[in-house]
Amino acid sequence: MPSDAVTMDKIVSLTRRRGFVFPSSEIYGGLGSTYDYGHYGVLTKNNIRSRWFDSMVQERDDIVALDSAVILNPLVWQASGHVEGFTDPLVDCRTCKLRFRADRLEDSHCGRKPSKKPGETPDCDLTDPRQFNLMFETSVGALAEEGSKAYLRPETAQGIFINFKNVLQLARRRPPFGIAQVGKSFRNEITPGNFLFRLREFEQMEMEFFVPPGDADQWHAYWIDARLAWYHGLGLRESHLRVREHGPEERSHYSLATSDIEYLYPIGWSELEGVANRGDYDLRQHTEASGTKLEYVDPDGSRYMPFVIEPAVSIDRIMLALLVDAYDEEVVEERQRTLLRFHPAVAPVKAAILPLISKEQAGMVEPARKLYEELRRHHLVEYDDAGNIGRRYRRQDEIGTPWAFTIDDVTLEDGTVTVRDRDSLAQERLPLEGVRAWLDDALERPWSPPPD
Ligand code: GAP
Repeated sequence: MPSDAVTMDKIVSLTRRRGFVFPSSEIYGGLGSTYDYGHYGVLTKNNIRSRWFDSMVQERDDIVALDSAVILNPLVWQASGHVEGFTDPLVDCRTCKLRFRADRLEDSHCGRKPSKKPGETPDCDLTDPRQFNLMFETSVGALAEEGSKAYLRPETAQGIFINFKNVLQLARRRPPFGIAQVGKSFRNEITPGNFLFRLREFEQMEMEFFVPPGDADQWHAYWIDARLAWYHGLGLRESHLRVREHGPEERSHYSLATSDIEYLYPIGWSELEGVANRGDYDLRQHTEASGTKLEYVDPDGSRYMPFVIEPAVSIDRIMLALLVDAYDEEVVEERQRTLLRFHPAVAPVKAAILPLISKEQAGMVEPARKLYEELRRHHLVEYDDAGNIGRRYRRQDEIGTPWAFTIDDVTLEDGTVTVRDRDSLAQERLPLEGVRAWLDDALERPWSPPPD
């Protein structure tokens, strides 16, 4: 397990208390495994998404972006194998009326008290397993009849495959090249739970990298390494990350080989991101089903169907990993402090600007607001004059703000401010006019998490 301090309950409580994440539809009793992100959650998600997009698209020549529709022609899901095969085996208990994944009974709890595993009490009356499709159904058009049935996408990847020809022609790419997409995916998960880890609605970031078949193994290894390095760059501890290769029985129907990048969540080592070699499964299926040839024709006239290497992850699982990694508690001067030691690049707020005394007459509010207005043109910063300074620092620690600039009576005398470091609690004084450059510079500095 990760650090002794962190549990899933503590993460749920902190993120709720500080407005990162709320249970969805809460005033109506909630809806299982759907969550709403509040202000700081949105800011953190934006940071994760833009780091991913920068590394996948902005900083490369060989990957282009796409934003395909959530609801696709249902034939897409027939051809992809999802209608037939995107299922989990389920059992129902006729006594407690709960439903369980047949392959996860060990991790499930029966509805009776004291709670046991399904099948363990004499009253348990489990049905035989049956296959349950995870896709949410909807209907397109005015009438909800059989012919109008459609699905909410369970992965963003298929929107990429069906646009392969468009991108090949219009973006003038040739393998190896990739198409990256970020967007919501939906799965009617049966054993949801564990907070953001397994959701019914989540935001995926997927990239399909099309390569000559003979180069697929090499590119697969390349993307596993590249993605692992990306997580290190996000500040996740190396000791909390590992790569695990799937055995043949574990692989999805389309996969020739898959390796998971796993993170040490409070529930134990679990999949953070999957990096799969999908072979030519998807392009072949869509070529056969649609009649459109999804292949690459070389200028010399030779043609082939590329293989696909796919790194796929959800922002939600990254968010949970970042929260777990960053969460810390320590006692300072006999008081407990809870903090998120986020990498500054993912921290929702980069700096807080705090007048020591918030009464206008004390003369600190005006220079503090001026500094705030200057900094916010360049970075996400927060002004706070509510409550005593200790409470304001604690609040910023809990949302993971790396630095706080405090305007005090010395500022009024010599034009300097205090900068407080979240992690070390060190304080130094800087000239007011140098704060912008100091912050720009601090955000560029290398950062690594404190040792375990
Ligand atoms: N296109 C391939 C694909 O979707 P997957 O392993 O089913 O493969 C890829 O999902 C990633 O999406 C996972 O590694 C995980 O990060 C995320 N993910 C999948 N199901 C999820 C869920 N129910 N809640 C949150 N994230 C999920």
